[in-house]
Amino acid sequence: MNPITVNEEKCIGCSLCVNDCPSACLYLKNGKAHAGKSGCIECGHCYAICPQGAIRLSSYPCEDEPVVSMTELDSETLLSAMRSRRTIRHFMDKPVEEEKIRKILEAGRYCPTGGNSQNVSYTILGSRQAEAEAICVALFRRGQKLGAPLVEFLKRIQISDSFFFKGAPLVIVVSGKDDVNAALASSYVEIMAESLGLGVLYSGFFRVCAGISGKLRKLLELPKGHKVVTCMVIGYPSVKYQRIVPRKDLQMKRL
Ligand SMILES: Cc1cc2nc3c(=O)[nH]c(=O)nc-3n(C[C@H](O)[C@H](O)[C@H](O)COP(=O)(O)O)c2cc1C
Repeated sequence: MNPITVNEEKCIGCSLCVNDCPSACLYLKNGKAHAGKSGCIECGHCYAICPQGAIRLSSYPCEDEPVVSMTELDSETLLSAMRSRRTIRHFMDKPVEEEKIRKILEAGRYCPTGGNSQNVSYTILGSRQAEAEAICVALFRRGQKLGAPLVEFLKRIQISDSFFFKGAPLVIVVSGKDDVNAALASSYVEIMAESLGLGVLYSGFFRVCAGISGKLRKLLELPKGHKVVTCMVIGYPSVKYQRIVPRKDLQMKRL
């Protein structure tokens, strides 16, 4: 059954919903929009675009929240913040407030996903953070002893007990069936965290460990079919950067 319902009394037949539906499952008949039989990905565009508030999606509560557009944000400020952002590897001993965690995850929830699959999940390590880090540390120390043929860099570094999470108070493992969706969602999460004064480290090393260690994967209790895509180490930075870093020239061509 199509999850879309159109209130015919409210519908004025403007066809905005019909034209905007990416799955072509709405049509106009006798001056009113109608939902077709199948193919709806429940993206909510019809609900969002309707000037009459005539559309509802049965699978979701529809709260008629007004839109705030990106153009209302100042692009210079946004770009400047994006260029100033740095990976943070030194954190204050200060917890992240629950309200901020909620906002961070809400940003991830609203990231686009292919086919509107929304198949990204977030695991806060919480009470198991120290245990998870200990597993990773043991794994990397073992790798180091074995000569680390895989990671040349492991030979030169000191793997302290806080090597992975750097004493940060919050670690969120982003997982999904699809790498792209989960990576994009991570980026949303990161930007929101930074806008809240927090610093973020993507721990690629943690991801390596999750790929190797069954024990770690068991601890994570990920949803079925999910794999770790990113591990986001988050907290208040205890370092401050004074200038923007140089970058390689943009690789771009116009065909
Ligand atoms: C997917 C990904 C994995 C990363 N993994 C690690 C990591 O395990 N440890 C670390 O210290 N930095 C890690 N980084 C941070 C990069 O080293 C960092 O982004 C890069 O040096 C550029 O610095 P910037 O983020 O401050 O611009 C990772 C970054 C990304 C995007």
